[in-house]
Parts: sequence; C-alpha cells; structure tokens
Amino acid sequence: LARSSLDFQGMKLPGTVHTAESINYAWKELKVFDDDVFNVTYPKSGTTWIQEILSLIYSNGDPTPVKTEFSWDRVPWIEQHAHKAKIESLTSPRLLTTHLPLKFFPQNFHKSKAKVIYTIRNPKDVCVSLYYFCKIAQFMEFREDFQEFVARFLSKDEVYSGWFEHVKGWLTLKGQPNILFLSYEAMLKNPRENIVNICKFLGKDLDDAAIDSVVTNSSFKAMKENGKSNYSAVPKFIFNQDEVSFYRKGIAGDHKNHFTPALDEEFDKTYHELMKDVDLTFT
Ligand code: PPS
Repeated sequence: LARSSLDFQGMKLPGTVHTAESINYAWKELKVFDDDVFNVTYPKSGTTWIQEILSLIYSNGDPTPVKTEFSWDRVPWIEQHAHKAKIESLTSPRLLTTHLPLKFFPQNFHKSKAKVIYTIRNPKDVCVSLYYFCKIAQFMEFREDFQEFVARFLSKDEVYSGWFEHVKGWLTLKGQPNILFLSYEAMLKNPRENIVNICKFLGKDLDDAAIDSVVTNSSFKAMKENGKSNYSAVPKFIFNQDEVSFYRKGIAGDHKNHFTPALDEEFDKTYHELMKDVDLTFT
C-alpha cells in the first residue's frame, strides 16, 4: 500500500481512501436529511468513541448493533470512496462520520435541520495519537522522527487542513442550535453526564438502564475488546497493530510523555499565534 497523500484544493488528505471525486461527492452531492446526525472531528479526537455512543443511543442501549456490525458501516465516513454505496443504502435516521473541515462539509447541510456533534481534544494529545496512527495505518504519510512529525502537525501541510484551521472553522458555528461541541477530556472525566447531554441534544429519551448500557459498552475497555470496533478485522497491509494498538491509551495528557520542553514551547507559541482570537485553552 502506498503512503501517499491527495491534494484537494490545497487540503492534504490520506490518499488511497480518498479521491477528488469522493470529496466532491461529500461536499457537493450528498443529500442531507433533517434527521441526519454527523459525527465530526479532526482525526484522533474521539471519532470512534462517538461512533459507538451514537450507535448505542439509537439502539436504546442494546449492544447488538455494535457487536454485530463494523463501526465504519454503522456510522460511515462520508468522504471515503469505499463508503458511497453504504451511505446510499442507509435508512434514516442516518449516523454519519466525517473529518472534513467546515469549508468542504456537505453544502446541503446548511439548508437542513440535520445535527452535528463536533468533538475537540487537546491538540498535543491529538498529535501524539496521530503519530502512532500514522505508524499503524499503512496509507498515511509518516515521519518517524517525532520532532519532524510535530513540525508538520503545526504546519498547513497536515491532513484535513490541519488541527488549527479545522477547529477554528467549526467553532464559527458555535451558538447554532443544531451543533453540539464536546470535549474529549470532559467525556473522559464524566462519560455519563456527556452521554445524557448528547441524548438531550438528539431528542432521544433513554431510561437509566439504557444510559448505563451506553456508558458501559462505549468504555475504552469495551471498545478495545469489540472486534467490530477495534479494526482487528482489517488486514495488516492496511492496519498494522503489531506494535501499537488503535486503542492505544485513551487518556488525557500523554503529550507530557512525548514533548521535550523545547517542543512544548514551540507548540505553545504556534497555538497562541493561531488561536489568539479563540476562547479555547487546554491544560
Ligand atoms: S480516528 O482514526 O480519527 O477515527 O481516531 P479517533 O477515534 O478520533 O481517535 C483515537 C483515539 O481515541 C481513543 N479512544 C478512546 N478514548 C477513551 N475512551 C474511548 N472509549 C475511546 N475510544 C477511542 C483512542 O485510544 C485514541 O487515542 P490514543 O491517545 O491514541 O490512545
């Protein structure tokens, strides 16, 4: 498999899984229904976690769907060319995933009442998680040297137009009733409270036992063991989890084990420059 990237109007994307046609499909052609729910993230910010939570909420806490159908079929990525047929065969309400920045998000969304859940994670932890993911996923460009990897992460060359542009773009929708912003770190601290909040946003009325089941079945441990969500079924030439697991640590603050003081300072400098007008801080 080639570790290649695709340039779509200045945005870099992992090659192999995307084509210009598949991005155009998601951006310009995808029909959007009022009961569609979009799980939107910058990569490594909690995408699979929200996929699992959404599947479980829409099954009223019944774990059967998450145990019998692959996550990427239950809540498919709209921009990947392999998923087009699946998306067109889904019945409503559809649960959809995307890493697209707002500027390439389905145009038809803006005329709809569809909902978006956007999850934000500490970018230093996103960077560490992405580093290991690039090692695992054989279609991702990879720089073994962590310092070089961080330099790319801080630049416009990072995938999906980079963390900074992605988050800033999506935050412009803050305050709109059909978008819910979540924090990966807050979810870790209090998953139940966040799941109840997601249900409220989606207008889903689950009883306590159903909520408990969503919490239990979307835990890091449950997901890591779930063969339909842990990518163990993906062949090694695409996902090689011999050295690192996709479900690596699932914690906040792992950047402290990876960033030298100098790298940390460089990161903070770029963060302050690029995020100076945005009310968003991390510890
Ligand atoms: S991807 O490739 O963009 O879909 O990856 P994504 O799912 O966004 O991010 C993967 C990281 O999320 C962690 N993860 C979780 N953390 C806590 N609880 C649950 N249930 C959970 N599921 C996935 C996963 O371990 C990756 O983070 P790191 O830091 O690498 O462990």
